[in-house]
Amino acid sequence: MDKKVAGLLNEQINKELYSAYLYLDMANFYASKGLDGFANWFEIQAREEQDHAMLIYKYLHNNSQDVTLAAIAKPDKEFKTLSDPLTAALAHEQYVTSLINTIYEAAQEAKDHRAVQFLDWFIKEQGEEEMNSSNLITKMGMFGGDPKALYMMNSELAGRVYSAPSLKL
Ligand code: FEO
Repeated sequence: MDKKVAGLLNEQINKELYSAYLYLDMANFYASKGLDGFANWFEIQAREEQDHAMLIYKYLHNNSQDVTLAAIAKPDKEFKTLSDPLTAALAHEQYVTSLINTIYEAAQEAKDHRAVQFLDWFIKEQGEEEMNSSNLITKMGMFGGDPKALYMMNSELAGRVYSAPSLKL
């Protein structure tokens, strides 16, 4: 497969694992505040990011590419208010979307149609990830200031269950 595309996908494994680590840190923040539902939501988010990393890892191996694993950076975001992780999560997803778009464009330029098809799933997934983050910010804006409503929102988020990615390799 195209070497530039393979290199970018290899780097993306690290970005996805960092995303998992960042979301685990957000879960960690909410757990320390006693908001177990928010923590659950971000724990599942962290698992999804690990899935993203594994999908790319497997895709590269399936296409006979060597994978190099690099150090995962320390989560470096500071959270003060209950909204901080939510706004940081949206900004992070927008950043990840830009990374996926860059790989997509490189695959198109290289006429690597298989990689383009593989990345189609990630393009769609990023749309969902941004929408989910944005919805949480909206809800927090409406309900976060009222303890009863926050309690209910926390209960709703406690109901999120993990499901394996729809993309199978
Ligand atoms: Fe793997 Fe949230 O992007």
